[in-house]
Amino acid sequence: MAFNIPSRHRGLVFESVSKDLSGLQIQSLPTPQVEAGSAIVRVLGASVLSYQRDIYDGERDYFLPKPLIGGFSAIGRVVAVGSDAIALQPGNLVYLDSVIRGRDDLNAVILSGVSDGFNERGEKLMKDVWRNGTFAEYTKFPLENCILLNEPKLCQGLGYDILDLIYISYLLVSYGGLRDIKVEPGETVLVCPATGGFGGAGIQVAIAMGANTIAMGRDEQELARLKTNVTEGTPGANIETVKMTGDKEKDLNALLAFGTIDAVLDLSPPTASKSPHLNSAIRAIRRKGRVSLMGGFMDGPIPSFELIAKDITVKGKFMHEREDISQFLKMLESGRFPRGKKFVNMKSFPLDEWKTALDVAAEYTGIGRSVVIIP
Ligand SMILES: NC(=O)c1ccc[n+]([C@@H]2O[C@H](COP(=O)([O-])OP(=O)(O)OC[C@H]3O[C@@H](n4cnc5c(N)ncnc54)[C@H](OP(=O)(O)O)[C@@H]3O)[C@@H](O)[C@H]2O)c1
Repeated sequence: MAFNIPSRHRGLVFESVSKDLSGLQIQSLPTPQVEAGSAIVRVLGASVLSYQRDIYDGERDYFLPKPLIGGFSAIGRVVAVGSDAIALQPGNLVYLDSVIRGRDDLNAVILSGVSDGFNERGEKLMKDVWRNGTFAEYTKFPLENCILLNEPKLCQGLGYDILDLIYISYLLVSYGGLRDIKVEPGETVLVCPATGGFGGAGIQVAIAMGANTIAMGRDEQELARLKTNVTEGTPGANIETVKMTGDKEKDLNALLAFGTIDAVLDLSPPTASKSPHLNSAIRAIRRKGRVSLMGGFMDGPIPSFELIAKDITVKGKFMHEREDISQFLKMLESGRFPRGKKFVNMKSFPLDEWKTALDVAAEYTGIGRSVVIIP
């Protein structure tokens, strides 16, 4: 299949951090050229993070080389492949995985459009090579980050809309943490907070993995919506909810009432650093339980004595591994996730409405909610 690729395309360029987002603008740019090791992909829809605006307005201090085209993971159609492509072909529907790693050094890891990683190796990888993200009509991505999707099975077979598949970007992150702590069918997993985008996705994924779930959060209304979403989308799923009260002991007792908790997935944002919920969650876990920390703050209420006394394993997890993606897709293709609006109720915006997209993404959060920019 041959595609006519225009010589220029449009993209949302991030030039500088500015409170009013004046450092972002749509520009006409030369379309990226394919070379060995890469593919050119027509972006069909790019996922927008709840804190994407915070990255561009300085609320979150993320390091990025500038200028660059912003973005996160996306869905697209391959239009050209490098000479070393073996499986990938023009015409393929792909998931563009934003986790890009150095081919000769796995310690270099960046998040396309979001972060240049945690060391100079990552900085180099983003600055010199994979600088531009998915908020553009076309993008150049490493071949190995263009994940081939089984379009007949997912779209024609299971009825997923192509754009709905962008929700993979949320589900996959939570799966990265849950798989890292080896969650097993029949175990009980506590997700906290579960009322956010990645937390809600964590509940959905834990259920797909065969676990019983406890969703913990401050917002009772959102906890109720989450429970309804899960029970209607996945009949027979086990889900309990617990309100975070801000009182450590009260929350601990509420969790202990559910019996054995095998694992905790934490997705706390930096603003939750003073919340005692993680302390209660860790204290509620069984002996030899496991904790995946995927949120993040510089200081936090981790009860180290409890970890020692109960042989608890705590693992930090950044995004996911490559094998997690293929394993996740097997689950998705085998129909383990809800369909239709119970899978995701997407809000989409054209590239020109990027500002609205960033604003809506900050508010439209929680299970089954996602914002997409359609370039
Ligand atoms: N490890 C990784 O690779 C990875 C990947 C993606 C994201 N993350 C991290 O995950 C975090 C969550 O992202 P998201 O998109 O899911 O965010 P989100 O949709 O905005 O959700 C934030 C969640 O945190 C809760 N929360 C906020 N402030 C709180 C407080 N003071 N006390 C208790 N709960 C509080 C919110 O509860 P309410 O509903 O009550 O406000 C909500 O449940 C981000 O901060 C991000 O850095 C990590």
